Amino acid sequence: MSELNDQGNKLLKLLADGEFHSGEKIGELLGVSRTSVNNYIKALQEIGLDIYKVTGKGYCSATPLTLLDKNIIKQVSGFEHIHVEQILSSTNQYLLEKVPDLNNGQTCIAEYQAAGRGRRGREWVSPFASHLYFSMYWRLDAGIDRASGLSLLVGIAVVNALEKLGIQGVGLKWPNDLYYQGKKLAGILIELQAQASDACHSVIGIGINVRMPAEQGKLIDQPWIDLNTINTKPVDRNQLSGLLIKELQSLLASYEEKGLAPFLARWFELDCFINQQVNLIVADNVQKGICRGINEQGALLLEIDNEVKPYIGGEISLRLANN
Ligand code: BTN
Repeated sequence: MSELNDQGNKLLKLLADGEFHSGEKIGELLGVSRTSVNNYIKALQEIGLDIYKVTGKGYCSATPLTLLDKNIIKQVSGFEHIHVEQILSSTNQYLLEKVPDLNNGQTCIAEYQAAGRGRRGREWVSPFASHLYFSMYWRLDAGIDRASGLSLLVGIAVVNALEKLGIQGVGLKWPNDLYYQGKKLAGILIELQAQASDACHSVIGIGINVRMPAEQGKLIDQPWIDLNTINTKPVDRNQLSGLLIKELQSLLASYEEKGLAPFLARWFELDCFINQQVNLIVADNVQKGICRGINEQGALLLEIDNEVKPYIGGEISLRLANN
């Protein structure tokens, strides 16, 4: 399924106002029986929509919904090549399948991912119309070596876009995560297609928690937070998407030319663990040290016995030492 059918869309638009609608009225609108109304409601609940029923009043979405709107995203970003889809397995997968035909900056955003991918083979919980599921294609002409600092640059671009929306205080945890007051707000998953000594095709996947439905939040096995908790008013995913496209395109163009060096100072500002005692977990080993930021290759700098050493690699993760 790549999108809801006509009836599903009609029901979605009706419930988006966050008001109650009787089963009878819904049945009339969809041209179906009361029993079928129940099935349509169940189908929306199965993709993560928080819809409840009150006897005598009818059905209601737990919060009003603002759906993704390609035209607004195009207008905010000033960019044309945007795919906005309702239902996908994964926005990363969608772009990866099209790699030979993509242009730099081409972006895919979905309302729902049936098989959203996190790092280390984990699932990325992706309820309908709740969060931002965003992927952008970028070709690195300098080849795969240039990909080593990419997730750090992308993290900076996400923080910049959030700041443009007035959201302050979001920090970065090397190499792929965004945190707010010790809780995970967003994650980055970069998937590469590359051959030695050739350009490297990257699909940059970003998942940002915007409005976590209560039931879905229970499925996440680490402390998390969403933008609507941090911000005083609900965050508009269309504005956020447009700003993110602009910010990523600008930073990626500069990164291709100059690498990570011009961004080191910004990373130091945003690093959640800078100058703190940390545990670096490399496979089964725990390395204790003081976090001293990153170098131009995107390696983590760890101070151990007064000596600073770079660490880089796939399966490394970082924790505060007292956790
Ligand atoms: C992480 O584990 O922290 C990385 C999560 C990345 C999730 C995003 S959502 C958009 C894109 N599509 C996917 O399937 N995953 C990434």
